[in-house]
Amino acid sequence: MDPRLERLKQRFFQVFGDQGRHLTVTRAPGRVNLLGDHTDYNEGYGLAANFPQEITVMAQRRGDGMLGMYSCEVEERIQVPVHNLRYVPGDGWANYPKGVMWSLENAGEKLEGMNLLIEGRIPQGAGLGSSTALAAACALAASSVEGFQLEPEAMAKVLQRTENQFMNVHSGILEPLCILTAGQGNALFMDARSLESEEIPLSLDGALMVVLDSGVARSLKTGDYAKRQEECREALKLLKTKNEAYKALRDVKVLAYERFKKVLPMLLSARAEHVVYENDRVLKAREALKAGDPAAFGDLMNKSHRSLSRLMQCSTEELDTLVGLAQADAACFGARLTGGGFGGCAVALVREDGLDEFLERLKRGYWQKVGGKMKHWVLDTVGPASEIVED
Ligand code: GLA
Repeated sequence: MDPRLERLKQRFFQVFGDQGRHLTVTRAPGRVNLLGDHTDYNEGYGLAANFPQEITVMAQRRGDGMLGMYSCEVEERIQVPVHNLRYVPGDGWANYPKGVMWSLENAGEKLEGMNLLIEGRIPQGAGLGSSTALAAACALAASSVEGFQLEPEAMAKVLQRTENQFMNVHSGILEPLCILTAGQGNALFMDARSLESEEIPLSLDGALMVVLDSGVARSLKTGDYAKRQEECREALKLLKTKNEAYKALRDVKVLAYERFKKVLPMLLSARAEHVVYENDRVLKAREALKAGDPAAFGDLMNKSHRSLSRLMQCSTEELDTLVGLAQADAACFGARLTGGGFGGCAVALVREDGLDEFLERLKRGYWQKVGGKMKHWVLDTVGPASEIVED
């Protein structure tokens, strides 16, 4: 066993004892949206890739109807019956594994109880999908321990229901889909309505994607994210008066939007404009990626950020500064905030041969302007969430 897993195993036995049964190990990566934000809950498109930092879960069957959970970060153990689970604010992190079990039972799976040890390495509140990764690693652990199998689409829906109905965070389906299916070295183009997806090699002629952390955490629970969803629903209602066939903002194409936008008050028109053009940009970015064209891809990233900041108003001063510094750098093809916004990370497309100097300039500039430290990760994409099988 690899030394890290060996260490986790020792911890597992210390915390839970050994039931003498097989130990299952699962892992799930974070994800980075390369283009297409605030599109998924409008049934639109997204282009994302898996982030190399991961959550690892070690699990063992109990069979006594109890769910034991331990977080290595928080160093806390929580135990509850595996049936009739409820969200309890005081349970903090443990609400995620609880929510997954609740969602699996709702999907018709019979659970008999297990112990879960969780080790997370994905920065939280950074827009990198740490919660979904946690849920994905727990769901795969449950499926192995309890002996059932779900197709990735069904599993993605289980994860989305965990967030929407148990955690009361109304996030979309693309993040679970990406974490469960995107292959190593690839970006994943996804359609949030049909759930169809296409893997495209993340290879842009001499350029690399770099994730930049503004150091300001965000939470989807604060209400801004839910407010954007509400505003998009309102905009759709008004646009429907022009075309009844619209089922979601995804159905409104650029030309139709320009023709009908007069029915929208200013704020709603800004939100809708972002969604309509962002969907269009994702389709164009898919082509730029297939052509391996960093300049075209970077230009779409810049336009996306401008739209997220000015129209969707989900950026922050820190993110705008960080993205602005990156965009102004000669080594950078383009940069944008990534994820829901309101804090968290940005992603930049940078010339590989100028990467080190770019990062130095950026860190210095960010420190001078914001007084904060910026962290970065080069996006070496990894494979989808999986069970780790030792030989
Ligand atoms: C959050 C949600 C996603 C998506 C993004 C914005 O990360 O979890 O479903 O809506 O915001 O693109």
